[in-house]
Amino acid sequence: MIKADKIWLDGKLVAFEDAKVHALTHALHYGMGVFEGIRAYRGADGRPAVFRLREHVQRLFDSAHIVLMEIPYSVEQLEQACVETLKANKLDAGYLRPLAFFGAGALGVGAVNPVQVMVAAWPWGAYLSEEGMKRGIRAKVSSFTRMHVNVNMVRAKISGQYVNSFLATREAALSGFDEAILLDTEGYVAEGAGENIFIVKNGVLQTPPLSSPVLAGITRDTVLRIARDLGIPVREEKFTRDTMYLADELFMTGTAAEVTPVREVDGRRIGKGEPGPVVKKVQETFFRAVRGEEQRYREWLTAY
Ligand SMILES: Cc1ncc(COP(=O)(O)O)c(C=O)c1O
Repeated sequence: MIKADKIWLDGKLVAFEDAKVHALTHALHYGMGVFEGIRAYRGADGRPAVFRLREHVQRLFDSAHIVLMEIPYSVEQLEQACVETLKANKLDAGYLRPLAFFGAGALGVGAVNPVQVMVAAWPWGAYLSEEGMKRGIRAKVSSFTRMHVNVNMVRAKISGQYVNSFLATREAALSGFDEAILLDTEGYVAEGAGENIFIVKNGVLQTPPLSSPVLAGITRDTVLRIARDLGIPVREEKFTRDTMYLADELFMTGTAAEVTPVREVDGRRIGKGEPGPVVKKVQETFFRAVRGEEQRYREWLTAY
């Protein structure tokens, strides 16, 4: 179980044991919460910083807007809450989880209950394992499909939408794979259960466009910027499952997964079956950026 000293709940830091909600919390029944996953890193100079804090908190507000939820704090207040939570837990690196949700009150599906907000923080290493980060993971195309854009709101990180990710992740794990890859309703590759996806073919980097049912990942955006700065040609275009099998390189990006190479999909070796030159370069630059070793990306860091 995750353990922390303090959790920020509804405007104040409370002891871990006191961060409780009522059993009739609307979000518990219908998944009506919006959340973020944010990482803080210890810089190369020893100073900790949150990576792309403003963009994450802004996305939380965007998700809330999409689900007609009024967050009773400002962007600045929630940024402050994130930093305070890291400090209160004496974390110089770790994972932050802000969540805004409809609390207890009425229990009709469309009830508009008071909005509660929490921020937790804890230490978290490589989401898809240290070994996966170095050698690449094995993934499986899921039998579950990524939600159609008119079924759910793919631009938002809504708690209930993660049933789709849960089912795909559990299926992949039960089949002996590290992660699931979901196709869209037309059969094109969409994204991982909690990550965006990239292929490399003949030196060109490609990822599904934001018109596909994918989250507008902040790490996706980071990688696109890094690739362009490294002079790697980039295309935001759909691709099929077999194109993915034939890729020279394949990798996934996300706040939790960071930049994780994929060495095998559905029993097909990808490229040479190990991380290739493009993903290695992107991964190295990404980790330099988050640790403040790249001057041009310093603007992404909020030191604390
Ligand atoms: C479904 C899904 N896609 C992609 C991502 C990657 O987004 P980000 O890089 O902003 O963490 C996540 C993680 O938040 C996710 O849950």
